Amino acid sequence: ARKQGSNHDHLFKVVMIGDSNVGKSNILSRLTKNKFSHDTKSTVGIEFGTHNMKMDNKKIVKAQIWGSAGKEKAPFYKKAAGVIIVYDITRRDSYENVKRWLTEVKKYASANVVIILVGNKADLHDLRAVTTEEADAFAKKENIFFMETSALKSTNVYDSFNELLKQIY
Ligand code: GTP
Repeated sequence: ARKQGSNHDHLFKVVMIGDSNVGKSNILSRLTKNKFSHDTKSTVGIEFGTHNMKMDNKKIVKAQIWGSAGKEKAPFYKKAAGVIIVYDITRRDSYENVKRWLTEVKKYASANVVIILVGNKADLHDLRAVTTEEADAFAKKENIFFMETSALKSTNVYDSFNELLKQIY
């Protein structure tokens, strides 16, 4: 049952990780404000946004989204129900580093955390350095959900969060 004065039935913490410049801030601002920024200013500290989703049974699930861990990893991952690992489809190194991010998640997050892999900047077809098939095969092997997004074109941004929340719920 919903608490009096509350606008949701369930609250989940979701953390967003991945190399610098892959588009984490823009995915978050697309999701929470429907805004995109062309500037490249590196995020300092923890950014934070929320996203509500109505489930099939009419319950409202609220995601509290944390981006950018500080030096202290443990508190960042603590109590996270979901993790979004983002890479840039035009930067091979950001994809190769997904393995390292996964290792960190396995070390600090709870064992039953739901992880999804997001290949962002899917609008930059001509610069693509990682194929959809390759990332898809990797995600299947790791048993995690995978989606390509574009924060710029607003492709799959909502869908990827909703998929994550459905899996958590
Ligand atoms: P840090 O704060 O350094 O961790 O970076 P970030 O991962 O938050 O990346 P950010 O959202 O700041 O985006 C980095 C750059 O990529 C910016 O210039 C964005 O405009 C651009 N960008 C982000 N998403 C997309 C996208 O979907 N398509 C294109 N073409 N550019 C994008």
